Amino acid sequence: MEIGVLGSGQLGRMMALAGYPLGLRLRFFECAADSPACQVAECVHACFDDLDALASFARGVDVVTYEFENVPLSAARHAAEHAPRFAPPLRALEMAQDRYIQKRFFQEIGVATAVFCPVNSRAELTPAIEATGLPAVLKTRRWGYDGKGQVVLREQADVDRVWQAMEGLPLILEKWVPFRRELSLIAVRSVRGETRFYPLTENVHREGILRLSIAPAPASSGLEGTARALAEKIFAALDYAGVLTLEMFEADGRLFANEMATRVHNSGHWTIEGAETSQFENHLRAVAGLPLGSVAPRGCSAMVNFIGSLPESAAVLTIPGTHLHLYGKTPRPRRKLGHATLRAASHASLTASLGRLLKIAGEDTLAQNPALIETSWAG
Ligand SMILES: Nc1ncnc2c1ncn2[C@@H]1O[C@H](COP(=O)(O)OP(=O)(O)OP(=O)(O)O)[C@@H](O)[C@H]1O
Ligand SMILES: [Mg+2]
Repeated sequence: MEIGVLGSGQLGRMMALAGYPLGLRLRFFECAADSPACQVAECVHACFDDLDALASFARGVDVVTYEFENVPLSAARHAAEHAPRFAPPLRALEMAQDRYIQKRFFQEIGVATAVFCPVNSRAELTPAIEATGLPAVLKTRRWGYDGKGQVVLREQADVDRVWQAMEGLPLILEKWVPFRRELSLIAVRSVRGETRFYPLTENVHREGILRLSIAPAPASSGLEGTARALAEKIFAALDYAGVLTLEMFEADGRLFANEMATRVHNSGHWTIEGAETSQFENHLRAVAGLPLGSVAPRGCSAMVNFIGSLPESAAVLTIPGTHLHLYGKTPRPRRKLGHATLRAASHASLTASLGRLLKIAGEDTLAQNPALIETSWAG
């Protein structure tokens, strides 16, 4: 079976690697000459405004999917018109691209979020702040990732300075959630309607970028059912197929949806070694119409991102239980270049190796704060 993928970053690369054992052939549609997925799989080099190339790409595969959410909607629609099948659905992609449309959708289907308001002018910012209170986060509605395009408004004195930086773009103001921790749910639904939910993952961000994921999230059994029910609502409303990621805040024992990604996700990278079937394989199975694989965890996992620069591979690989993944990207500040996953029998037995791995990854603050990690273990 041939699977066409729009985009070709590290998510696509790991998808291609997951497809080989199953005999699934992935072909990527990508403008750039060198990209993580095109280093390991077949690539059609054309840009999203080349509609003829898109149409013939889509006709030449059994299903078209995507690995990043900023595929222009017009290009995705064109591919969907010419492909035998397109998944996840276009409506899901449209929602993933605009934070305001997405949060309105959450509201409509009964998924709790922090208070939010659209902001299109300075005049609209004042009543928006009254609605959310301070602190609040001002975010661009579109194109944001890894914390880009967002600023925290802590006090009234910040407002004019922040406005100058963001003016002219469609924005959304969100109440700052004083969360106890961040959790994500990787869920999957196949074109046949079968669903599976990985155990919740606990995520630690710094400067808006994911640094560390721990799975299964410690002490989260009381929240699993609630999180799954939220994903079920989204699946049903969108007649979804593929992997869906729901990022949430846990505050006062409740879950608030932060955002959804209608694709495989960085907080699910631990599933490559830490679950019976990885998120990448299950995404492919889901869109290909194959039975889904078990999502049962294999012990406990911790995933650490390498951001901006890469450590020596040998230093990472000396840590027992480490699995290293490099994406073939040129180092740049704030860029995700690779990750490593540690797997062990229990959370407690991960702690020592995790401290070493975090240090090697340059996450000194996290590494020197074992209390932060151990508190989350203890729940
Ligand atoms: N309303 C909020 N309250 C508290 N923290 C927030 C809020 N919004 C964002 N954050 C923090 O900033 C991080 C990044 O925000 P968000 O997920 O909205 O942006 P993003 O740039 O799309 O991230 P990514 O695409 O990498 O997941 C969150 O994971 C969280 O740590
Ligand atoms: Mg996010």
